[in-house]
This record gives sequence, structure tokens and C-alpha cells, in this order.
Amino acid sequence: MTKPLRKAVLPVAGLGTRFLPATKAMAKEMLPVVDKPLIQYAVEEARAAGVQQFCLVTGRGKTAIVEHFDIAYELEATLRARHKEAELRMLRESQLPPGSIVTVRQQEPMGLGHAIWCARAFVGDDPFAILLPDDLVLSETPCLQQLAEAYYQTGGCVVAVTEVPHEHTNRYGILDIGKDDGRLVEVKGLVEKPKPEDAPSDLSIIGRYVMVPEVMQYLGMLERGAGGEVQLTDAMAKLIGQVPFHGLRYEGRRFDCGDKIGFLEAQIAFALKRPEMAGAVRAFLKTYV
Ligand code: G1P
Repeated sequence: MTKPLRKAVLPVAGLGTRFLPATKAMAKEMLPVVDKPLIQYAVEEARAAGVQQFCLVTGRGKTAIVEHFDIAYELEATLRARHKEAELRMLRESQLPPGSIVTVRQQEPMGLGHAIWCARAFVGDDPFAILLPDDLVLSETPCLQQLAEAYYQTGGCVVAVTEVPHEHTNRYGILDIGKDDGRLVEVKGLVEKPKPEDAPSDLSIIGRYVMVPEVMQYLGMLERGAGGEVQLTDAMAKLIGQVPFHGLRYEGRRFDCGDKIGFLEAQIAFALKRPEMAGAVRAFLKTYV
């Protein structure tokens, strides 16, 4: 029987060097898109998919991320006294139930695979989701929920995938594909950041995964891959053939918020989805183009 998906691991230890100086004293995961920090989008998406327990893989200077999901007593008291109901509701939405969030530290930047391995005690024998908060997906059905549905259908690993321009394969984990029904793709192989001439396809992994706990034993080997880092992609590749492994062409649009242009585009796309500001945003945009 397929175990229910209740856990998620969110790596948030990255230094955010691409966003300096904004991230000198602040976690990049706290950067807002419109008015909500990136990390909250990821947590809300996971909760919508049935996730109840969260593990943040953190590092130095990231405590604000954990505080963000806490109760803010003083702020609540002040808002209550001033009858600011809408703001109070917003505060409560960013609060997680007691005991549902833990953190582990990744002391050294040894790569995404190493970060995930740091959460092995939290994961135990359960399936788990991985969400990279830099990747933001605008969709009708939350991206991880789409993945969770595919997981319950296939009973194995599922990664969210999208086609990228051939010259960009060296930025992503790339799939070698088997059977393909247009939506669900059988994964035959995985390569981390291949040069375009070596890429087995143009189908790239985005930062949403449903993983089986067995991946931890391969991550634990701490083998170095692309860029001299411990790569999640390499450990996942070792699961192929042992458990069902699929890529899911999710419905939605992905924004790479780890990149300045992607981040700016996300601001516009998400603002245009907000009825109270879409008109004003559209109006000012016209003055720039
Ligand atoms: C990581 C993964 C890569 C994946 C990407 C998605 O790379 O290693 O396989 O395609 O996230 O955003 P990073 O962006 O950390 O270099």
C-alpha cells in the first residue's frame, strides 16, 4: 500500500549570493513576491497537498524563517486592539500548528543532496516531498498537489518537469525518458546539469519532488557530482529500476525566483492574479512598454 505523503523537506541554507546586497543580513527565502515571502508560498503549496510536517534545512542567519511561522503575540494584540481583522487573518494564515515544523542545520555548503541528507532522521521510513522555495509555480492546482496525485497513482518517485531551451540544459537536472503519455513520463535516467551536446532530452526537473525514503541511503554515500557537490539528482538516479520513477509535466508556470529577472517576472505575474491590484499594475506596465 502506498504510504500517505505527510512530510516535506525544504532546503533553505543557501547564501543567496545572487541577491546581494538584499540578502546580506536577510534570508533570501524571506524575499516577498507581492506581499508574501517565498518560503510561505512553498509551505502553503505543501499544506494544500496534505503535508503536515515540515523540516527546514537551515544555516546561519536563517532564524527569521522559523519565526515567520510562529505566533506573533505582540503584533496580534496590537492588531486586535485596533480591530484590524484582515491583517489578523493574514497573520494566522502564516502560522503553523504547534509541533509541525523542525529545523536541522547544514553546517557546510556541500550541495542540495547533502542538504536533503541532513533531514534523514526527520524522514525516517516515510515518503516525503522536497520543495525548493526559489522555484515558484503559478497554477490552478498547486504543483505539489499534482505531484502527490501522481505519487498515489504510481506509488513511487515523481519529479515535476518542464521543457527548457536546449542551450539551458546545463542549468538543471535533465531526464532520459522512456514511455511518455504527454503528461506522465517514465524516467530512464537522470543527469545533473549536462552540456547541451550531452543532454539526453530537454526535459528539466524543477524544484518539486516526491521521494521515497530509500534515497537517503544513496545520499549518505556523499559522492561528489556536478560542480563538486553532493547532488540529489545522482542519488535519485540510483533509484531508477528499484521503484516506479516518473516525471510529471505539471500544469502551471514556473518562475525562477533565484534569478533577478525571474523574480521580477513573478512579481508581475502574481500581482496580475490579485483582483485588488491587477488593474493598477496593468495600467503602470503600459507606461513602460
Ligand atoms: C537544483 C537541482 C536541479 C534542478 C533545479 C531546479 O539545481 O540540482 O537538478 O533542476 O534545482 O530548480 P540548482 O538550481 O540548485 O542549481
